[in-house]
Amino acid sequence: MSPIPSPRPAGDDVVVRVKAATDLVALVEAHVPLRRRGRHFEGLCPFHEERTPSFKVHPEEQFFKCFGCGKGGDCYSFIEEIERVSFREALELLAERAGIPLRSGPIGSSRDDRTGIREALRFALDRFRSNLASPRGREARAYLEGRGIAPASAEEFGLGYAAPGWDDLLGAARGKGLPPEALEAAGLVVRNEEGRLYDRFRDRLIFPILDGLERPVGFGGRVLRDAEGPKYLNSPESPLFGKGRLLYGLERARKFLSPTGGGGGRGGAGGAPEGKPLAVVEGYTDVLLPHQEGVRNVVATLGTALTPDHARLLRRYAETVVLVFDSDEAGARASERGVEVLLAEDLDVRVAVVPEGKDPCDFVRARGGAAFADLLAGAVDFFDHALARIEAREDLSTSPGRVRAADLLLGLVSRVSSPVRRGEYLKRIASRLLLAESDLGRRLGDLLERAPRPIARSGRPEPPPAEPPRGAQARAEEDSLHCCVQDPGAFAAVRALVAADDFMDPWNAEIFRAMAALEERGEEIEAGPLLLGLAGHPARSRVAGWLAAPPFDLGRLPEVLHGSLEYLRRARASREAERFAELFRRARIASDPVAEKGALEALHARLREAKTIGR
Ligand code: UTP
Ligand code: MN
Repeated sequence: MSPIPSPRPAGDDVVVRVKAATDLVALVEAHVPLRRRGRHFEGLCPFHEERTPSFKVHPEEQFFKCFGCGKGGDCYSFIEEIERVSFREALELLAERAGIPLRSGPIGSSRDDRTGIREALRFALDRFRSNLASPRGREARAYLEGRGIAPASAEEFGLGYAAPGWDDLLGAARGKGLPPEALEAAGLVVRNEEGRLYDRFRDRLIFPILDGLERPVGFGGRVLRDAEGPKYLNSPESPLFGKGRLLYGLERARKFLSPTGGGGGRGGAGGAPEGKPLAVVEGYTDVLLPHQEGVRNVVATLGTALTPDHARLLRRYAETVVLVFDSDEAGARASERGVEVLLAEDLDVRVAVVPEGKDPCDFVRARGGAAFADLLAGAVDFFDHALARIEAREDLSTSPGRVRAADLLLGLVSRVSSPVRRGEYLKRIASRLLLAESDLGRRLGDLLERAPRPIARSGRPEPPPAEPPRGAQARAEEDSLHCCVQDPGAFAAVRALVAADDFMDPWNAEIFRAMAALEERGEEIEAGPLLLGLAGHPARSRVAGWLAAPPFDLGRLPEVLHGSLEYLRRARASREAERFAELFRRARIASDPVAEKGALEALHARLREAKTIGR
């Protein structure tokens, strides 16, 4: 067992099996040349710049640790960090590598035949692409040319063409022996009222949408000419395809971001990724053209508003996000919600408005990549953008105008997770609006207390409330789980910080596992499926009880979640500290100075974590 517990359900069988089947040394060596030094291997750390090796891999315990930058963990953490993927994706990648199929978790439901769905998606991607290259793709190729999209870009982004008619894909799949049910589950074919299947995408230019492992998970299809129906047709939502958690072009963009930026990692302990900002645009073509002209740090939402999941995804790759809008009006509207969502993830948020009402695609065509890069570089801080808009709208020479302006600005500033930065903005509001800073500070304080504080996983959290010594562990466990039942989004925060064995109460551990199993299968953490998953287990009644009578006021959910997670994290750190103290004693006895030093450093880190909070 690794001495560094991974932030994930350790009771999860397949996680353990995949890890057991993975040789960490071989895995790391694919990225970093390693040399044996006694019982461990060492090399230059891939996560920070260094000249002398302080990156060590311990084959027996199957963990790695860099004594320079502090990054460490097991095979999953390594893949998460180096490939900048989620835990789920790291698991899939390693499982595939080890030849272990990922099946559904312990909870019923047999729908999880992801392999068949993936095969269907892959098949469709190939089919669409070869259609585009074939004579029947002539009009689509001409369309691309007319839009200024070069064949090399079309190739790079895997663009394709869905043939007209009702069953091109269906027929081709049949010929290959692919079951139509898999195509249906993949959202590629639709069933009409009589139960007959037909192709969803017909006579459309196809933009494949890839996941973190660069596998197709869905498609966007654009009409080639004026026709009835929507301009774009997208794959339906499914466990694999969620517009709220995918960003178009991210798998390309991330390759061009700083390689040693070091993702924040899970567990909220990592540093911020350095390097370029990521620009978020609105359309597929708005990603393609900038990339084609060398501006690579561009991704797009899939026609939906930014979600907290998007924000977390972006946070993995960048510290600063530039929201790019076609017009100031669109910018104005989106800068309310989108900015807040991003601020809540502790991102620096800037806004760039493309002039003349052009979208980025048109702009790049008209003015070139360098001009677009300049536009991104000149993006203004969200605060300045909001201030400029307010100045244009409110009469700041009147007192009511200034108060309204202050309220608007304070609303945004209350989303900023850094108290230091909040203070800076406060000063600026005070001087610009000629209002007393102390009044504004009080108002901001009210807002912070009233509005649910965003859970800044990587931010600098406020001090936790004093913990009553009795039953605090049990309370923290139940509070954190109960938050997940009330707010499905909360589970990501819980899972990032604690694992099943951080729950001392076996029922709570079981509830956590059931939630993890749902997430594993890409399902929402919802009361129904959760209760189903706990069928036959006594913990079920506990969850049912929470639903019947919430043990705390739901308005306080964010702060309850935050407080309980901090508690669990510190409790875990002190348990780990004990373990490292033991490792240290053993290394001493074995006179293994390297292990001794490592254990001591880990011990100190844990002690610090157990006492303090945040980073
Ligand atoms: P836009 O209408 O701005 O399209 O929608 P676009 O990306 O600029 O496309 P072109 O330049 O006309 O080819 C922005 C995004 O909103 C989603 C798509 O993701 C699109 O890229 N969208 C738009 C839909 O999902 N359905 C639609 O009917 C329209
Ligand atoms: Mn456009």
